[in-house]
Amino acid sequence: MSRRVAILLSGSGSNMVALVESMVGDHPARPCVVLSNVRQAGGLEKAEARGIPTGVVDHRPFRGDREGFEALLQEALAVHAPDIICLAGFMRVLTESFVAPWQGRMINIHPSLLPRYRGLNTHARALEAGDSEAGCTVHEVTAALDDGPILGQARVPVLPGDSAQSLAARVLAKEHILYPAVLRRFAAGDRTPVMLG
Ligand code: GAR
Repeated sequence: MSRRVAILLSGSGSNMVALVESMVGDHPARPCVVLSNVRQAGGLEKAEARGIPTGVVDHRPFRGDREGFEALLQEALAVHAPDIICLAGFMRVLTESFVAPWQGRMINIHPSLLPRYRGLNTHARALEAGDSEAGCTVHEVTAALDDGPILGQARVPVLPGDSAQSLAARVLAKEHILYPAVLRRFAAGDRTPVMLG
């Protein structure tokens, strides 16, 4: 039986599209819902256009009450009974009480070669450091931010004259290859890291 995949996003959803488009044919998983904390997130329309149920759990009314937000998110997820959660540009930090029951079943893509540059502004930080390569990482989500066992990485060169934007675009193109490759393995129960480039 296919594994059911919930995808959480906050933005344009290009990784969500790459994941959804990969889950066809003999793939061991299928998307079951796309949820966002941002009503205007471009990814929601893209999911709807692909016939995937969507939902919004707005974090803003829960200022200072992260667990209240997460309780609602958990409820919205439960309706769709996912086996796996993919964070795909989901820009909220999740607490241990949300993460714990999903540990081993929740994965995230991060736009750096972890353990370098956890958190935000990864591309600007890689440029500032004078790095000669950059990339992206898919990892299991644990309570520690952008931590957890690494399931795959893809590398790109940093080119002369790169801006944070040009580097982000080069990395994003690799994210679209890496994340589906990792999900396919992960959904089949294989945690061997996928190393690209
Ligand atoms: C991606 O670059 C993803 O790695 C990053 O947000 C972007 C979402 O783009 N995620 C994080 O920074 C998580 N900390 P998308 O909405 O087009 O997939």
